[in-house]
Amino acid sequence: MAGTIIITGANGSIAVHAVQQLLSKAPDSTLILTVRNISATDPNTRRLGEAVNQFPKSNVVIRRLDLANLKDVHKFAETIAAEVAQEKLPPLAAIICNAFHWNMIAAPELTEDGREKTMQVNHVSHAALILRLLGSFGPRGGRLVLFTSDCHYPGRNSLEVYPPGLPDDLDGLIRADPDTDKRGRGFQNYANSKLAILMWTYALNRYLERDEQFNKISAVAIDPGSIADSRALRTNTPATLSHTQRFVLQPLWPMLRLIMPNLRPSIDAGADIADIALNRTHAGERGYLNLMMPGPSSEESLNSIKQQKIWVKTAEWAGITRENTALQGGFQSHCPY
Ligand SMILES: NC(=O)c1ccc[n+]([C@@H]2O[C@H](COP(=O)([O-])OP(=O)(O)OC[C@H]3O[C@@H](n4cnc5c(N)ncnc54)[C@H](OP(=O)(O)O)[C@@H]3O)[C@@H](O)[C@H]2O)c1
Repeated sequence: MAGTIIITGANGSIAVHAVQQLLSKAPDSTLILTVRNISATDPNTRRLGEAVNQFPKSNVVIRRLDLANLKDVHKFAETIAAEVAQEKLPPLAAIICNAFHWNMIAAPELTEDGREKTMQVNHVSHAALILRLLGSFGPRGGRLVLFTSDCHYPGRNSLEVYPPGLPDDLDGLIRADPDTDKRGRGFQNYANSKLAILMWTYALNRYLERDEQFNKISAVAIDPGSIADSRALRTNTPATLSHTQRFVLQPLWPMLRLIMPNLRPSIDAGADIADIALNRTHAGERGYLNLMMPGPSSEESLNSIKQQKIWVKTAEWAGITRENTALQGGFQSHCPY
């Protein structure tokens, strides 16, 4: 499937492997790799560049995108849409919403847009990106790949202190209320963002399926497993977590895997992500995949009334209106961006 594939957080642990797999399995694709720091002075961007350079004939562009800034996200989407319209880029074939933020060592942070950062980076900005760019997919449709986690289930993740769940007042999800338990609340914010992504994906698929223009675009929310070598465990985490990774998970993961089947290296998850994005595995399927196996997801995530509520609120938080998306999604007017 030659077309343009966008991947956010492209210098991340899973993403670099996914990029290599995409370049090897679909060399005709055009890849737009977004990172926060495009300079090779960033060691992760340098690693991404080295991975790309192994495929000298590839069509790859590395662009800057900070998902903590909604104005940037809308501008990035407008630029891509214009380039597709002017045939400078092939129509989109996939968007891989890989980037994520969490913070378990600081009080909850607000973005410049006034939204809790974890929820904005992980969910709100990706929703804006997808909805702004649906009209840039080709007639053959394509894939939307979103990332959830086992932490969307209450009681499933060992880092959980407070269970995930959508509050009655959904705006509570984008407020950064101070809390002394940085670790517990930081992880809960992450888990809530992964629950919101999953529930929004279910709603998105309903709108895509009923729209003749977009019913060949399918969205999946993937739990890629617990990634033993991810740098996420060393980013904004307590020292105990990075030590556990260094001294337990990384050296012992082949044995630990016998008792923790979802523990795996980033290279395996990267291969899965590429296959899903290229529609080679679970072609056209929609919804939740846990380590590439279809659902079920948590009881709350399957509540269609709550899915619709998060759909409506997400559009409001993301600045999506009926004027700036091609999807008939029941959106209001007046975009602030
Ligand atoms: N690791 C796991 O065990 C696990 C488990 C379940 C689900 N997942 C999901 O899998 C996906 C990939 O995880 P990973 O382990 O590969 O993560 P990772 O190695 O920590 O990479 C995260 C990526 O997100 C980027 N990012 C952070 N803040 C950003 C922002 N404001 N704007 C744009 N990009 C930003 C980072 O870029 P910088 O270099 O600029 O920080 C980095 O490229 C995530 O969605 C995660 O939630 C992972």
